[in-house]
Amino acid sequence: MVDPRPLVRVATAGSVDDGKSTFIGRLLYDCDAIMDDQYESVARTSRQSGEEGVNLALITDGLRAERSQKITIDVAYRPFSTARRRFLLADTPGHAQYTRNMFTGMSTADIAILIVDAEKGPSAQTYRHAFLTSLLRVPHVLIAINKMDLVSYQQDDFDALCGQMRSALGGLEFADLSFAPMSALSGENVATDSSMMPWNRGANVLTYLENVETEFRQEPFDFRFPVQFVIRPNRTLRGLAGQAASGTIRVGEEVVAMPGNQAATIASIRTPRGMAKKCSAGEAAVIELADEIDVGRGSLLVRPKNRATSTSSFEATICWMGDNPSKIAKKYRLLQATGNAQCEIAELVHRINPETLHREDSTSLSINEIGKVVVNTSVPIWVDIFARNRVTGSFTLVDADTNEVAAAGMVTKAPATIDDRSPKNLGLVVWLTGLSGSGKSTLAELLAASLRGQGVPTARLDGDLLRAGLNRDLGFKQEDRDENIRRTAEIARVLADQGQVVICSLISPLAAQRQMARDIVGGAFVEVFVSCSLETVMERDTKGLYAKAVKGEILEFTGISAPYESPLNPDLALDTDRLPPMESFREILEFVEVERQRLRFL
Ligand code: ADX
Repeated sequence: MVDPRPLVRVATAGSVDDGKSTFIGRLLYDCDAIMDDQYESVARTSRQSGEEGVNLALITDGLRAERSQKITIDVAYRPFSTARRRFLLADTPGHAQYTRNMFTGMSTADIAILIVDAEKGPSAQTYRHAFLTSLLRVPHVLIAINKMDLVSYQQDDFDALCGQMRSALGGLEFADLSFAPMSALSGENVATDSSMMPWNRGANVLTYLENVETEFRQEPFDFRFPVQFVIRPNRTLRGLAGQAASGTIRVGEEVVAMPGNQAATIASIRTPRGMAKKCSAGEAAVIELADEIDVGRGSLLVRPKNRATSTSSFEATICWMGDNPSKIAKKYRLLQATGNAQCEIAELVHRINPETLHREDSTSLSINEIGKVVVNTSVPIWVDIFARNRVTGSFTLVDADTNEVAAAGMVTKAPATIDDRSPKNLGLVVWLTGLSGSGKSTLAELLAASLRGQGVPTARLDGDLLRAGLNRDLGFKQEDRDENIRRTAEIARVLADQGQVVICSLISPLAAQRQMARDIVGGAFVEVFVSCSLETVMERDTKGLYAKAVKGEILEFTGISAPYESPLNPDLALDTDRLPPMESFREILEFVEVERQRLRFL
């Protein structure tokens, strides 16, 4: 019988001093995942060493000691379960010399728990761990503030630490970041709600683990099926065995096998449960094609209009794992999902200091170091950007001389795919409207940088910048603004027709002006309302214009002496009064990604 409960992968990070072992011991104990004899032996040891209670840390430390005798690269996986879910907990050592182990443990995790000492606060190590979880795009990150007993379970201490960490982590991207107070030692808020912390609004750690939405991924759009091997049980069946990395495919749909790019129709799908109509992310299946095409181990089945990138050069962030430092132009073997190719590191762009996030010049990467590199392969391979797909966007490098694992990496940038997608269809105009100083340009800049980072052709049209050149002849009377917006929309249309994502940031105060822009663009156009109260923008007054406008030194100033009509029905509204810039950025990025996906299917 297949266990119907979903498997959730959890990775923990923190040091012994933060109470990580005690936490794991407590969680396993409270979930009945500890054998009686093991518990007895720990209780005995605790008594012998004169400890008051049972030292639960000994459970995990003991397990680790046993394992480390056998293997040195160690991630200890500990299974436990509740009525609703099965969990596999990756316990990785926290010190810098084990960065590569943590990389491994985090790379497949659905949830990462970072443990922080409530009394001492976050350490440099905490930030390194946070950096890794962000780099590896762990979908859910829980920062567990432990040892709350040492700060008398005070809400103020908890709130202050959360605030401090939120701002310190502001430069990192997290899809979902939460905080929880706990005392692993006394079991407060670990598996049950704590009576010591009635002020806690969030769930206890176990309830969080049981409820966090892990089934939904960003990936449902892209069907990716790396072929593991071809089976021919009889003359008639030629089945492609593998596991869908993302997306869903149905019988009767057309697929293309990369890198050969020949198309075929899905004739049948067999899963461990029998014949099926479809195959979705995470499912193992044997797929039979109706047409004879060139496909084998290492091929990738995709939809014709949604392919991976076919490339022989890409940029990646890698974590070095080998004893021998990286070498430019040396031969490595690149292993991806099911395929492999010969490759070399053509360039080390920079090394990243995981504690300060600074980029450093370096000629090579040593064990546990992280850096950005350019990888060239001897033949074209297929890749996805890791941010889109953790399976098809990751790879391992193996030293061709020693056969040892040299590095683990994530694709960060790959040249755009050459396929039958017309670029015209993917052009999109993102029109940001809002008061002067509401944050339009900042958001536009962040969005443009991120899209470009993913290799998406992106252009920016900013009111202020255009007014310095092309629109120099225009002022701020309504006709002038109309003309300013008309010209900008016309350029946006030309660029979007050539497949660019065009990000326009103009006050565009009137609904009629924004409608005009939409009509001119004609095709894909989204209106984003960057909303911010007049009080706030006047208080910020970064350009000092509001002060002047109030004094009457600037006439017809939007919000003061000229109208601003808030959009009634924008495609997206971002309240920059309330949301910190990184949050708004994340929202708009996600929105644009979904919008671009939608366009692909039109
Ligand atoms: S729009 O109304 O025609 O869309 P646009 O976005 O191009 O305006 O330009 C607005 C920018 O011009 C503001 O951010 C501000 O820096 C500057 N500016 C100068 N005078 C005015 C004014 N009277 N009203 C609004 N913005 C002004």
